[in-house]
Amino acid sequence: MQKPRGIVIAGNWKMNHTQEETQNFFSKLQCTSHPQVKCIAFPPTTSLQTAVAASRDLPVEMGAQNVHWEKTGAFTGEISGPMIRELGISHALVGHSERRQYFGETNETTRLRTESLLEQGFQVMLCIGETQEQYEKGQTSKVLIEQIQGAIPKADSGAAPYLDGRLLIAYEPVWAIGTGLTATPQQAEQAHQVIRKNLWDRFGIEASGKTPILYGGSVKPSNLAELLDGPNVDGALIGGASLKPHDFGEMLQIAAQKMSEDAAS
Ligand code: PGA
Repeated sequence: MQKPRGIVIAGNWKMNHTQEETQNFFSKLQCTSHPQVKCIAFPPTTSLQTAVAASRDLPVEMGAQNVHWEKTGAFTGEISGPMIRELGISHALVGHSERRQYFGETNETTRLRTESLLEQGFQVMLCIGETQEQYEKGQTSKVLIEQIQGAIPKADSGAAPYLDGRLLIAYEPVWAIGTGLTATPQQAEQAHQVIRKNLWDRFGIEASGKTPILYGGSVKPSNLAELLDGPNVDGALIGGASLKPHDFGEMLQIAAQKMSEDAAS
C-alpha cells in the first residue's frame, strides 16, 4: 500500500502525566526512527517544558493541546502562541471533540485558532468528527464537511495558504474516542476520502494531496496496522494507548515497518 505522505503517529495525552510521569515516559520510550514516520506528542501544558527537555535525543516533535488565537491579552487561564514557541513547541491541537463538547469550542473558534496558529508558523492538527447520534442518522459526511469548511472556509483566506503539509487533519468519530469502539478500516478510509475530496474540490489536487489525514478513536497496537492500510489514512492520533511508553513505542515501530514495506513494494 503506497503511503505518499508518510505516516504521522501522534499522542494526545489529554489531562494526564505530571512532570515526573513525563520524565519517566520519555526515559522508557523506545523510539524507532524512520525518515517518513513523524512522531508528535501533545502533553498537558504544565509538562511541555519537561517533555521538550526529556525528549531532546528522540525524534519526537512536541505540541500543545489548546492555544488561544490572540498573542496576548485579558484571557484568564489561556496560553498563546508566543508562550509555547518559547518552550520549543512546534504543533498545536485544535478543535478536539472534548474541547467542543465540554468547553464550548465551535467551528468559529476552531477557525480563529487554526488561522492564527498557522499564520504564527505552527503546524496545526485540526480535529473533526461526528457524534454517535449524527453517525446513527447517517450524517457523517455532512458533519465532516461542515466542520472542515467551518475551520478552513475559503481558498483565498486564513488557513488555505498552509495546505502544504503544515495543516494536518484528524478524523476522530466521537463515538470511538475512549470507548474501545474503533471505526472499521473501511469506515475510516471512507471518511478520509470525503475529507480529501472536499479539500480537492475547494483547494485543488496539490493542496489536497499534501494534507495528512489521521484517524483517531481507540487506536492501539493491535488495530493500527489495518487502519493504516487505507490509502487515505496517513497516521493516527492516539489518546489512551499513547500514555504507555511501551504501546506508543510499538505503534511507532508498526508505522516504520509499514513504510519499509511500502518502499519495498
Ligand atoms: P482515544 O482518544 O485513543 O483514547 O480514543 C483519541 C483522542 O481523543 O484523540
